[in-house]
Amino acid sequence: MQFTVTSSRADQHQTELAIVAVYQDGELSAAAKILNKIGGAVSEVMDNGDISGNSSELILLTNTAGLPCKRILLVGCGKRSEFDRTAYRKALLSAFSWAGKKPYSKVTSYLAQENVKGANALRRAHIAAEIWHNASYRFTRMKSKPAKPGHAEKLVIAVRDAKSAAAARKGIGQGDALGQGMSFMRDLANLPGNVCTPGYLAKEARALARKTKNMSCKVLNEAEMQKLGMGSLLSVTAGSEQPAHLIVLEYKAAAASRQPVVLVGKGITFDTGGISLKPPAAMDEMKYDMSGAASVLGTFKALAELQPKKNVVGIIPTCENMPGGRATKPGDIVTSMSGQTIEVLNTDAEGRLVLCDALTYAQKFYKPAALIDIATLTGSCVIALGSHHTGLMANSDKLARKLLAAGQTADDRVWELPLGEDYARQLHSNFADMANIGGREAGTITAGCFLGKFTEEADWAHLDIAGTAWKGGKAKGSTGRPVPLLLEFVLES
Ligand code: BES
Ligand code: MN
Ligand code: ZN
Repeated sequence: MQFTVTSSRADQHQTELAIVAVYQDGELSAAAKILNKIGGAVSEVMDNGDISGNSSELILLTNTAGLPCKRILLVGCGKRSEFDRTAYRKALLSAFSWAGKKPYSKVTSYLAQENVKGANALRRAHIAAEIWHNASYRFTRMKSKPAKPGHAEKLVIAVRDAKSAAAARKGIGQGDALGQGMSFMRDLANLPGNVCTPGYLAKEARALARKTKNMSCKVLNEAEMQKLGMGSLLSVTAGSEQPAHLIVLEYKAAAASRQPVVLVGKGITFDTGGISLKPPAAMDEMKYDMSGAASVLGTFKALAELQPKKNVVGIIPTCENMPGGRATKPGDIVTSMSGQTIEVLNTDAEGRLVLCDALTYAQKFYKPAALIDIATLTGSCVIALGSHHTGLMANSDKLARKLLAAGQTADDRVWELPLGEDYARQLHSNFADMANIGGREAGTITAGCFLGKFTEEADWAHLDIAGTAWKGGKAKGSTGRPVPLLLEFVLES
């Protein structure tokens, strides 16, 4: 994929396809007006009512005699006064998805010239590159026939003038890196559990670090985790034939004295529920239970491309949750690395059991400026927030506000839920320091409270991505979220 910027006028720029905005009530964008001057093709279809300018409407003009573009794709962008980032994203997705099915080698988008509420020239180019990646994403690795030739390789982003060109180039750099990070996450999460095992995640992390400046990777095996006292993490992998790993990625491009942002991603490569076995319906979707891990790897992929002057650590506890003769049983009591004991009342609440030891590890070996865990942790988060907002819980208001702001900027939103003693009490155990479940009420929050018992030494936030990281149904697949949020947060930190 190749992105370039041009500030030449639409009637002086050669391309196979020019993507151009039109608005409701017959209003033309500047590029549409320029192209209309020769032949009047744009006003003809507008006057005939072939396109009304409503949002996402598309019409192709091939009668471009006298113009340097072979074709024009008009994109309806709705009301001009209401053209905001959401409408801009929608228009781009619709146009780029359409263009992606055609055999064009070079496509030029004039949409970044438009006024978009809440997006400057940099952000408009950033979004265009991000959506070009997302619109062209296909997961065909597991099909026996080779993939069809996909999307055009070259996207030209046309901007208003030379001054916005510099900002656009910077935006493209970010959007391109983000797009690559999201595609990396989506590939990992879409892979089935028999391919994407804990060992596979470790191999991918090592490979990324090996080819990347400022990045290193270390992988702990079960014996090493045993030595550290990670009895909680190891209790989850007990029923599995696949060895568990703790993957530690370091990206160091700022002064060594700068405390790192530490990202901890849940990496359950398949969650059967263990002895507290899940019902069969849609159990295949539990291959996505490593989406937290994949979002950390996706963010590191973006960092690898962008090389910002930051220090970031990624920690991925990864294993399977399986039933078996050696599997942990309801009622078993395990000792975490923190020394706290946990009564495992439900083996399906396994995410918190692997995360708590990884969080303790993070605080013991790093002094995080911010400690953030990312996990497909609870089904109840899907019920509470659906697929629109990621659930956020934090022990620091300042960190929570930064994440909320990053989510707004990146259009990858989070919604804060409370923590507190009233909820934490639901985790009471008669036999151990705590139970791993807190009853039916407020399941997302009690899961957050559980993790809060292991993060008292850091400014910590928990992101529950069970509803946002992947889609079910006909469009089943990974979304690449919350890589946009995490990258924005890291770049702003
Ligand atoms: N991985 C699941 C959470 C999940 C469920 C994510 C549905 C996406 C869709 C997690 O390990 C789990 O099973 N959580 C249980 C917790 C319960 C036993 C307290 C849940 O949400 O049902
Ligand atoms: Mn589970
Ligand atoms: Zn799980």
